[in-house]
Amino acid sequence: MARCLVTRALPGEALDRLRGRHEVEVWPGELPVEREWLMRRIGEVEGLLCMLSDRIDAELISAAPRLRVISNYAVGTDNVDLGAAAARGVGVGRTPDVLTDATADLTMALLLAVARHLPEAQRAAREGRWRTWEPSGWLGLELRGAVLAVIGAGRIGSAVGERARAFGMQVRLLGRGFDLRAELAQADVVSLHVPQTPETYRLVDEAALKAMKPSAILINTGRGGLVDQVALRRALQEGWIAGAGLDVTDPEPLPVEDPLFQAPNLIVLPHIGSATRAAREAMAQRAVENLIAGLAGQALPYPAPPLAPAG
Ligand code: DGY
Repeated sequence: MARCLVTRALPGEALDRLRGRHEVEVWPGELPVEREWLMRRIGEVEGLLCMLSDRIDAELISAAPRLRVISNYAVGTDNVDLGAAAARGVGVGRTPDVLTDATADLTMALLLAVARHLPEAQRAAREGRWRTWEPSGWLGLELRGAVLAVIGAGRIGSAVGERARAFGMQVRLLGRGFDLRAELAQADVVSLHVPQTPETYRLVDEAALKAMKPSAILINTGRGGLVDQVALRRALQEGWIAGAGLDVTDPEPLPVEDPLFQAPNLIVLPHIGSATRAAREAMAQRAVENLIAGLAGQALPYPAPPLAPAG
């Protein structure tokens, strides 16, 4: 029996499965685990099941001499120092596939909401500004025929492409080796689905936003660091682009006083891409399977992607 730490209670039955095999301590709070709580215990544990909101860095890993597996409750692993884990021989797991549909659905929901001005229209209806049927009011983007640039051709990007094609959009599924500026310049909607790495950090910066059409919409359900938010605020305020929908920000949560919230035609959601009961319960099962396999000395069924070679 190994000792495991879990940094948040999870939906579904998965943690019961873990408790049946190992000694499990779960952070009892409703906010992310406190660093101090984690540091006090990490030296004693062999397994860690953590959230994307936990920073699992070299300091934490070096304070954990018994640690054998880090199981991240997310498909993204940008919150984990993969190099430090690899150097210590600690396996890192994640939860792919099971959140693909939920995240692709949410991407389409954001896209439609921004394209058809849903928040503003709903506000107008509630606030007594719905005077009549408006021939020229609330005019938005028609999806049929519109060009969607999907940056990142992995599971979620492909699932977004599949849904967008059903809406009649012209989908450009962009994996490696494409001309970003040229793609941005012809897209009506740009949706981001690449992992956040040093190479993709602020991929959408001022120059990229200026390359987009003034009528274009940016959707980000990947990671907040992919977009330069200061530039995005200017882009929306000054009309370089027409709207944006973000399910992810940098930092998370985005403080309510952040000036980005003042930008027009912007929807910000609290990172709910995978928030369906089915997806979150299946993620918990995968996270527990990774932990159980790693603690048994077996290959993780859902490992983090291999580190890119240095240099
Ligand atoms: C992930 O798993 O990386 C997602 O961002 C969670 O919603």
